[in-house]
Amino acid sequence: MPEPMRPGNAAAMAALNARLAARGLDLVEPGPIEDEPMPTEPGHPEYHRQHRAELALARWATATPPRYQHADATHPDVITWAADVAADPGNARSLLITGTTGTGKTHQAYGALRRIAASGPQNFQMIAITTADMYGDLRPTGSAGAAEHRLRQLCEIPLLLLDDLGSAKASEWTEEVTYRLINHRYNHCLPTVFTSNLPPRAERDDQGRPREPDLIAALGERIVSRLAEMTTLVPMTGVDRRRTKAA
Ligand SMILES: Nc1ncnc2c1ncn2[C@@H]1O[C@H](COP(=O)(O)OP(=O)(O)O)[C@@H](O)[C@H]1O
Ligand SMILES: [Mg+2]
Repeated sequence: MPEPMRPGNAAAMAALNARLAARGLDLVEPGPIEDEPMPTEPGHPEYHRQHRAELALARWATATPPRYQHADATHPDVITWAADVAADPGNARSLLITGTTGTGKTHQAYGALRRIAASGPQNFQMIAITTADMYGDLRPTGSAGAAEHRLRQLCEIPLLLLDDLGSAKASEWTEEVTYRLINHRYNHCLPTVFTSNLPPRAERDDQGRPREPDLIAALGERIVSRLAEMTTLVPMTGVDRRRTKAA
């Protein structure tokens, strides 16, 4: 009687091999079982990346107003910036998107954040706020503690979109909180997208006065030189898309 085959029974395997070899047959040794997970299975890096992307995109959708729910970045420099942040947020620059009303600045900004979410980052947390709303949150009208808490949130959030910089009424106080925010994010290498209707620095006339409104006039030199250092400037051109839509 041939010995029954049991897993791990080396003697039985050897006997069987010998009998097969005698007949000129070769039994192929069973190799290790292919048990690496597939990209669609837990344990595979791609499975976990996709899972993170789903969570991040849900957060992005919650933080994004209905008008920009379908926004995608199309400007090449904005696409490059989003890819840089997705690859290494600690080493990415910030972004300053400028241009007149309706050129698509806010659309590009939300689109960039959406691309970062879709890449499935380890940690996706964002706040998107207009500068005017931010000043509204930070005015110490109620408890000063609440305003400080909000400023801390805005300073520390891994990704911030600050929309329409320089369009709210300026004062010493707005300059101070804006500087504190920008300086903190700069020091901690936290990527920020700024949009503004104003160019950072307009041409000056003979008396040194700006020929058109600019960010220096709205925010002060100290903030603009910080911005110049930390951001990639993306000027948007073209017509007012809101008017084209309405026509
Ligand atoms: N690339 C685009 N594709 C489709 N719609 C766009 C695009 N860019 C902007 N829009 C739409 O045009 C309008 C103006 O864009 P928006 O980003 O709000 O301009 P801005 O912030 O420069 O004033 C919005 O309704 C926006 O949804
Ligand atoms: Mg806008």
